[in-house]
Amino acid sequence: MAVIGLGTMGAGIVEVFARAGLAVTAIEVDRAALARGMAALDASLSKAEARGRLTAGERDQVLGRVTAAADLAAAASAGLVVEVVPERMDIKRQVFAELDRACRPEAVLVTNTSSLPVTAIAAGTRHPGRVAGMHFFNPAPVMRMVEVVAAVQTDPATTETLTGLVRSIGKTPVVVTDRAGFVANALLLPYLNHAVSLLAAGYATREDIDMAARVGLGLPMGPLALLDLIGLDTSLAILEVLDGEFGGARFAPAPLLRRMTEAGRIGRKSGRGFYDYGQDSPPPAVLTPTIQPNDSRPILSSVTLIDGAADHAGPAAVATLAEMIGAAGVSVTAGESDLVVVVASPGAAVLPAAPADRAADTVGMHVPGGGRLAEVISTVASSAGAAARAAALGRRLGLEVVHCPDRPGFLAGALLYPHLNDAVRMVQDGYASAADVDAAMTLGCGYPRGPLAMLDDIGAGRVHAVLASMHARYGDPAFAPAALLADHATAGLAFHSGGSGQ
Ligand code: 3HC
Repeated sequence: MAVIGLGTMGAGIVEVFARAGLAVTAIEVDRAALARGMAALDASLSKAEARGRLTAGERDQVLGRVTAAADLAAAASAGLVVEVVPERMDIKRQVFAELDRACRPEAVLVTNTSSLPVTAIAAGTRHPGRVAGMHFFNPAPVMRMVEVVAAVQTDPATTETLTGLVRSIGKTPVVVTDRAGFVANALLLPYLNHAVSLLAAGYATREDIDMAARVGLGLPMGPLALLDLIGLDTSLAILEVLDGEFGGARFAPAPLLRRMTEAGRIGRKSGRGFYDYGQDSPPPAVLTPTIQPNDSRPILSSVTLIDGAADHAGPAAVATLAEMIGAAGVSVTAGESDLVVVVASPGAAVLPAAPADRAADTVGMHVPGGGRLAEVISTVASSAGAAARAAALGRRLGLEVVHCPDRPGFLAGALLYPHLNDAVRMVQDGYASAADVDAAMTLGCGYPRGPLAMLDDIGAGRVHAVLASMHARYGDPAFAPAALLADHATAGLAFHSGGSGQ
């Protein structure tokens, strides 16, 4: 087989095939890029050897299966060719036209496009039935799924060959049709885009956004760190395609994403994105936190707790927090205290629950599901000192602390609930089953639970209520609960059998 293009993904895909025992011709017409790609392959195999995943002998065998070439003609005898060149239709079509001339007529030609229409890439070839998509996830050697794109012109036999191949290299195929973003990117990118908008709006700091996703939602990486891994340029290109195909606020690229791409701050591959991967550069100004609790008073001795739940937190959540605070040596009192904490629920605002005479001393606190994160919620009336005291309290309780404003969903929920709504819409549109959506996100993006399983855990009713609050607050149609979500909430029905739905 042959792989065309040796960027990050191309080199990773060569590694996957070669480690699975297949002979691979690694082709990159730019000789400097070819050298970089082969060096990346070598480094990745050395890392695997250092971690004890490969012996030195196996490493040499893997490298021995890879032949580097700088000419597309080297693909002439391959039975399968995987194209991994930059995400531009003109470049891809040119490569496919050349492959069409160079390769055997029965060769299967595959694109690893992350969002461009496979049908359009296939259009200039003489045998479009043998053209399909094979979408790998970054890092290719690690992520366990490959989306096999069966476009309208793809022969079923081609799809079958590819699903068999994906299984034979130890990954799981999910067969998708040729719709922008397929399953995983169409769900992932709007969520990442939303995180950029929250950062640009000063809603929370980059560290807090990423912490909320990792610690509050249990995801393997925060959205801004993940954008740096994927590349901001690649992410922007995918969003533009999604925006063109579907339209709407969830897909319109956040201006900050565009500006950073224009500035060349495109993530790990350029040494700098939302985070700095170089040695000595100062932190970028745009990332300066806008919420900076700086109260240096010592940790408080007494707290007043108020139930802020219009719907879900309720007395049980107050009692749990009171017990934790008491065990940490801070007294909980209804009288005079250093701090008033509204035990908050993501569907209800904190401010209405704040006592009028102590509004400056009042913040909300919400501990999402896993019980490892405290969201400290500042209202317009909260003082910076109150937020700082609440943060110190959260840390004393052994929780990671993030700061956010008094908006529906707070921070983890503001990221998660629209993402879950998007997943429901995909099922509602008949594009993918709940099982396929969850497989794509767990196997392709390392989620511990798929979005619909997460939704079942939280309950359709609660997710619906928070989205309705977000929709009412912002008036953005992107947050309007999907009709299918409303139906599941009304019926108390889960998306997977065994889920609660409530
Ligand atoms: N290449 C090869 N192997 C790698 C690697 C890389 N670039 N990065 C990590 N690994 C391996 C490590 O060697 C290690 O292997 P081992 O367990 O055999 O020793 C394993 O992965 C775990 O690595 P670490 O312990 O260093 O790091 P983490 O546990 O933090 O995991 C991660 C790193 C696998 C990247 C994890 O954070 C993750 O799953 N993140 C989510 C990534 C994701 O969502 N990818 C999909 C993006 S969307 C996409 O690619 C589509 C495109 O079209 C945009």
